[in-house]
Amino acid sequence: MSKRSFSLRSPLDMHIHFREGAMMRRVAPLSAETFAGGVIMPNLVPPVDNLDRLSKYEREIRETVDGHAFEPYMTLFMRPYTESELASMKDRIIGVKLYPEGVTTHSEGGVGNLRDIEGTLALMEELDIRLMVHGESTDFVMDRERAFLPVYEDLAARFPRLAIVMEHITTRESAELLDRHENLSATVTLQHLLITLDDIAGGLLNPHLFCKPIAKRPEDREALLALALEAHPRLAFGSDSAPHPVDKKESAGCAAGVFTAPIALQMLVGLFEEHGALDRLQAFVSDNARRIYGVAPPEKTVVFEKTGAVIPERYGDVIPMYPGRELDWKVAEVR
Ligand code: NCD
Ligand code: ZN
Repeated sequence: MSKRSFSLRSPLDMHIHFREGAMMRRVAPLSAETFAGGVIMPNLVPPVDNLDRLSKYEREIRETVDGHAFEPYMTLFMRPYTESELASMKDRIIGVKLYPEGVTTHSEGGVGNLRDIEGTLALMEELDIRLMVHGESTDFVMDRERAFLPVYEDLAARFPRLAIVMEHITTRESAELLDRHENLSATVTLQHLLITLDDIAGGLLNPHLFCKPIAKRPEDREALLALALEAHPRLAFGSDSAPHPVDKKESAGCAAGVFTAPIALQMLVGLFEEHGALDRLQAFVSDNARRIYGVAPPEKTVVFEKTGAVIPERYGDVIPMYPGRELDWKVAEVR
């Protein structure tokens, strides 16, 4: 008999955009309701790249998710940092996020030339600070992640004690790279397990599925799904839930980002069940991350029930992935 009920312990979202102000107040509680913790991305305007900004941002998040058992794991936006800067923020962050200049939303102040941060990377290796990377070049859009792989290989080899996270991987080649370097790990999103470029642009253009890195080919999705379903020990779930107001999505010049935070877990339960892999989901959404990042999130149990539910059309002015779609599973209880 198929399961009617399923539980996860302290699910974690290792890549999430909370934004600030009114948008944060709208989206952060939705994550904090079901997730026990999350890695908070620093690509604000201006970015989170100093102690004062980091402290204020963390305080705003904690105030916003007050009452929920949710731990925000903070990150810094990569720039050349001094040793004393890094030392002063080391215990407050889970890593430093490298955005190559101009490759995604709010990355204008990103790194133009990797040589500029060589010294910072050496310091991070010394101080045991994790490097998280948006791994895309500025080549043709479908080739950007592939073109970046030699950079990962080079960094992994030259900084063997630096823990490097390949964020939101989208290709078969990235999935394969995971087994080649001990110091590499990766996150993968929900949408990249489900969609290809066809779902975005194969028929009528769907702006709500448009994100960076762009979803790729069927064989890429298959490779990522296989990696997730086996809960590869160096892979963690990171939704990359990236809310934008509806007028920025349904517009000429659509902003990149898919909003999945409130529906990601229910959809993952359905996806893993469909593939007979429910017993691997706990590792994929929590246990792997605890081990890879060495975190101990608050205790939280999320109980799912197999009774139909419908994805809301909107959360305020934000439209989620698959608005109006019927789901098999819903969150029945959080304790
Ligand atoms: C993210 C955003 O909107 O901040 N957008 C996206 O398409 N994923 C930035 C990012 O993670 O690349
Ligand atoms: Zn992101």
